[in-house]
Amino acid sequence: MSHGTTPTELTVVGGRPLRGTLRVPGCKGISHRALLFAAAADGRSTLRGLADGADVASTAACLDELGVRVKQSGEAVVVGGAGFGGLREAGTVLDCGNSGTTMRMLAGLLAGRDFLSILAGDESLSTRPMRRVLDPLAAMGAHVDGRDGGRLAPLVVRGGALRGVRHELVTASGQVKTALLLAGLQADGTTEVVEPAPSRDHTERMLGALGVPLEIRSDREVAVGAGEPRPFELTVPGDPSSAAFFVVAACIVPGSDLTITGVSLNPRRIGYVDILREMGATIEVTETGTEIGEPVGDLRVVAAPLHGADIAGDESIIDELPVLAIAAAFADGVTTVHDAPDLAVKESNRIGTVEQELTQLGVRVEARSDGWTIVGGGRPRGASLKSHGDHRIAMAGAVAGLAAEGETTVRGFSITAISYPGFAADLESVLA
Ligand code: S3P
Repeated sequence: MSHGTTPTELTVVGGRPLRGTLRVPGCKGISHRALLFAAAADGRSTLRGLADGADVASTAACLDELGVRVKQSGEAVVVGGAGFGGLREAGTVLDCGNSGTTMRMLAGLLAGRDFLSILAGDESLSTRPMRRVLDPLAAMGAHVDGRDGGRLAPLVVRGGALRGVRHELVTASGQVKTALLLAGLQADGTTEVVEPAPSRDHTERMLGALGVPLEIRSDREVAVGAGEPRPFELTVPGDPSSAAFFVVAACIVPGSDLTITGVSLNPRRIGYVDILREMGATIEVTETGTEIGEPVGDLRVVAAPLHGADIAGDESIIDELPVLAIAAAFADGVTTVHDAPDLAVKESNRIGTVEQELTQLGVRVEARSDGWTIVGGGRPRGASLKSHGDHRIAMAGAVAGLAAEGETTVRGFSITAISYPGFAADLESVLA
């Protein structure tokens, strides 16, 4: 997993169309899960095309601390799991870096292990809500705690004998659901997870293919009994969230015609394609195959004028809302994004950071506690933007600059190494 070289600052000049073909790095969500499930399997798993960003490297490094062999072997990463029972108490604090996915999912994996784990992260991760994962793990019998009465990291997990329970989650979350299913695989009895709305389902698709007793009862309910995934081989499809930055850029820069190949077309990840189409975008989706339960294929985008839309936030598009806000800024008319309060507790408070950066570009925007109202139809002008230490805000800023008049600089751009170290290089390769 190399990190490539990521510039500390990116400057783009508006108006250069995006043309040709591009492959984006492997899906971050699938990569985290593949490493964790391979660690829980008894035997050797071979993973190709893992996401090369710092978040997935954090998961790999934590597993290494827990005694799992994670080795690069040519193009592949080979994980030597020894089953849940093969995990060992780490000699140090498990550093989850900037990755909420690492911290929350590891908490679930470790809840079933009879040893002490301390999970810590960077400044951003140390402000993100953790009760949503600790409370349900405690209900299964794990001893868990965290700073500020269990609200914040660092977290302490002393796992042990777990019992299956029925969890009715208040917030839909692919991360929390995965943590509870990982705990459930180690628990006595059945663990049921019910969500208020569907969340991303990579875990169900993957575990379903790996031979554990998992039952999908509806798009909001899943159950598991005790079991261990079998070792597996996987080629991770491209990340639909990384692709989204290029998709929006190709929509809003006139003259663009760009194809992104080999992307996961999981319906709970490409909701943004439907939203952009509703706004007037021309996007062709072609399925070319499947990989461990995930449909995979190509996205072809031809620039077209966009108009405003009413966008209800849900977990399937939450990561794409910053870049959809950029699309809205370049669309005619007003766009309202609502019912997305979780935007405020991501790698930055994205409600506030998107508002600030759109304002810099001269866009009229009003922030609310669950989204924004964005007035399109102006002529956003190039500006000096900030990443706010948030990889998706950095890339959304670059996309805005590609369509704005004049020059845009995004400071703090190296944070894109979290999910997409090669973003700047890939962008350069498709700019005509
Ligand atoms: C993820 C779920 C989402 C998403 C995050 C990755 C996952 O978070 O924002 O980037 O891999 O399950 P929540 O679980 O907090 O909704």
